[in-house]
Order: sequence, then structure tokens, then C-alpha cells
Amino acid sequence: MGVDRHTIEHPSNVIVRWPIRADGTEGRWRVSADGIRELIEKGYIRLGRARGDQTTIQYISRGEVKKVESGVFKIKGHRDDGSLEVQDTEYIPTVVPGTQWNIKSHDASVNGALMIRSLIPRRTFPFPKSLYAVEDCLRFLIKSKPNATILDFFSGSGTTAHAVMRLNRQDGGRRQCISVTNNEVAAGEQTSLRKSGLRPGDPDWEKWGICDYITKPRIAAAITGKTPDGKDIKGDYKFTDEFPMAEGFEENAEFFTLTYETPVAVSHNRAFARIAPLLWMRAGSEGRRIDAIPADGWEVADTYGLLTDLDKASAFCKAVEAKGTIRIAYIVTDDDRRFQSVTRHLPDAVEPVRLYESYLTNFRFSMGR
Ligand SMILES: C[S@@+](CC[C@H](N)C(=O)[O-])C[C@H]1O[C@@H](n2cnc3c(N)ncnc32)[C@H](O)[C@@H]1O
Repeated sequence: MGVDRHTIEHPSNVIVRWPIRADGTEGRWRVSADGIRELIEKGYIRLGRARGDQTTIQYISRGEVKKVESGVFKIKGHRDDGSLEVQDTEYIPTVVPGTQWNIKSHDASVNGALMIRSLIPRRTFPFPKSLYAVEDCLRFLIKSKPNATILDFFSGSGTTAHAVMRLNRQDGGRRQCISVTNNEVAAGEQTSLRKSGLRPGDPDWEKWGICDYITKPRIAAAITGKTPDGKDIKGDYKFTDEFPMAEGFEENAEFFTLTYETPVAVSHNRAFARIAPLLWMRAGSEGRRIDAIPADGWEVADTYGLLTDLDKASAFCKAVEAKGTIRIAYIVTDDDRRFQSVTRHLPDAVEPVRLYESYLTNFRFSMGR
């Protein structure tokens, strides 16, 4: 303290490395001299590329030391400088990751903003995250869960859905992603739209909303490998794997708009077309969807069936059993007794759901006064 560092003498065969901050002022090391000696002895510290008094000194944090000592990271051997080499490729995390990761691929400007520019040219979104940063976060949690469902309820530019596609491609997984966003128009844009006499809800207003202008086209571009103009996306993915973005992915995506439906319209089966996607999603968002009230009073898709005319219950139950892949039977009736009697004829593995009682209970967000 209080001594000019240039006046300190040191042996001639030693390079002195001072803790100098980027602005040139003197900082202080975070590890004491004894702490450093211990790190050297255990092989937890090493020097970066030789750059004289600018050479970086790398050491592993206490959290990482614990992982080595508890055997989470297997020791492969020692480098020539005595530092440890650990094997972490098969590492399936059992601990919460640290709060700071310093990884180049996580750079949001290159792998967030520029990535969006390649996928949907000329459309900008403020501060999209790096695709690879989101991918790494997800990998931490769902690497060993190939059938996981990921819910992203503020999906913005759709980075999470895109990262899920990449993870699936890497290990043949069938993870699903539910991306939810509003369709807000950026504040600056709103002012000019208002000046042209437009209001929220007008098609010429809504088309500039985040969902229609960014989220949906970005997800579509990632899957198809084409920009909204139908051109091949330029550039390659460059991370744990490398391949042209124009190759796209094998995924499917469905886009729905959330609407408000009155309980009366729902309970009288008058809102069926708008409720149809919810029934399909509750059954796993797989296979065919029943989009209209079945003319025969019942219908069986791939993962669920719908019975609207209880006089046809016998044919319906037989078809459900024959199909073998049905998870849910939706039964439209006000009569609880009849509902119970149909459920007795369904296979045990099929969950009976009464419409619209269940619908109105599950999806109601105002419980009245
Ligand atoms: C910070 S951004 C998410 C960024 C995203 N993770 C990415 O990397 O692109 C948050 C998003 O949530 C949306 N949002 C805000 N309020 C919302 C609400 N009440 N319901 C649904 N989405 C909303 C905004 O439109 C915005 O796009």
C-alpha cells in the first residue's frame, strides 16, 4: 500500500504480473498468496498464452473445485504445467449452474441480433438472446429428458423454441415447446401508426405486433430454412455442430390466437371451432385435430376422441378401444349420470373429460363475484 509498484524489486528470471484494471488503475487479486499456492499444488490454476506481464491467470472457482473433489467431473490427467484435465462431456448436471458464464457463443449481438437478421431480414427485435446461450441453459435441465415440454410464456423473438429444435436434432429427441407472447407493437411504432389513424385491433396495426411480425416468422424460418420472402437463409449454425441454417429442422409448428369466449357460447357448443385447438393440446398436441363438431355425433382422432351425441356412445367407445392410442375422451353432456355411464365403457388408460364443465373450470380465470 502506498508504494509505487515500479520501485518493487524482483528476481531477474521472474515475470511480474500486477492486477491492473482495464482503465490502468491498480486492482487487487481475489486470491491470497497462500490461496494461490494451494491452487498450484492441487492443479487448479494455470497460465493462459504467454503475453509477458499481460499473461492471464486462470483458476477454477470454489464451486467447480467441489465438483472435481466430489467426483462430478472425472479427472483425466495432468497437463505438462501440472494443471488438471477433467472429463465433463458426459456430465449431467445435478447442481444449479453458476450465475456467470463467459462463453463466446453466448454473445447476444452475434448470435442474437445478427441471427435474427439472417432468419428474418430487416425485422428487428430489441435485445434477443443468443440462440446458443438459451440452448446451453436448456441443455443443463433437459439433456436427459428427450420428451420434455418447455413452456416459454414471454417468448419474444422465439429463441427458446429455436433452441429446443436444435437440441432435438442433436439427440433425436421429441421435446415440445409452447411459446406464448402478446402481440404488442413497439412504443415508437405505435405513435406513427396512431398518426395514420390506426388503432389496436386494426389488421394494419396488428401486423406490426411482435407475435405476427417476429415470433411466428422467426419460428417458421428456423423450421423451413427460408426467410419470409422464401429465400434460403444465409449462414451456418456454428456451435456444438455446424450445418447450413437453410437445412431447417424436422419440427412442426402450429400457431393459435387466444380469444375470449363467453361461457354461454361455450356451454352451448357454439364456440367449438375456437376451443378445438385446446382439446388437441391437452391431449398432447400430436396427430390429427378435430376442428368441427362431428356430423356423426362422435369422432376419434389419433390421441383423443370426441363424443357429442350420447346416443352414439357405444360406437364411440368401441372405436376408442380399437384405436389403442387414445389418451382422452371428451364427452359433451350436461348430464352427470350419463357421463359416468359412458366412462364405464372406456378403456382404463383413457381419461374421460366432461365438456364443457371441465373446460369452463380449467380455463376460467374470473371466478365471478
Ligand atoms: C424480454 S422479451 C423475451 C425475449 C426472448 N426470451 C428472446 O430471447 O427473444 C419479453 C416478451 O414478452 C412479451 N410480453 C410482455 N407482456 C406480456 C404478456 N402479458 N403476455 C404475453 N407476452 C407478454 C413482450 O411482447 C416481449 O416480446
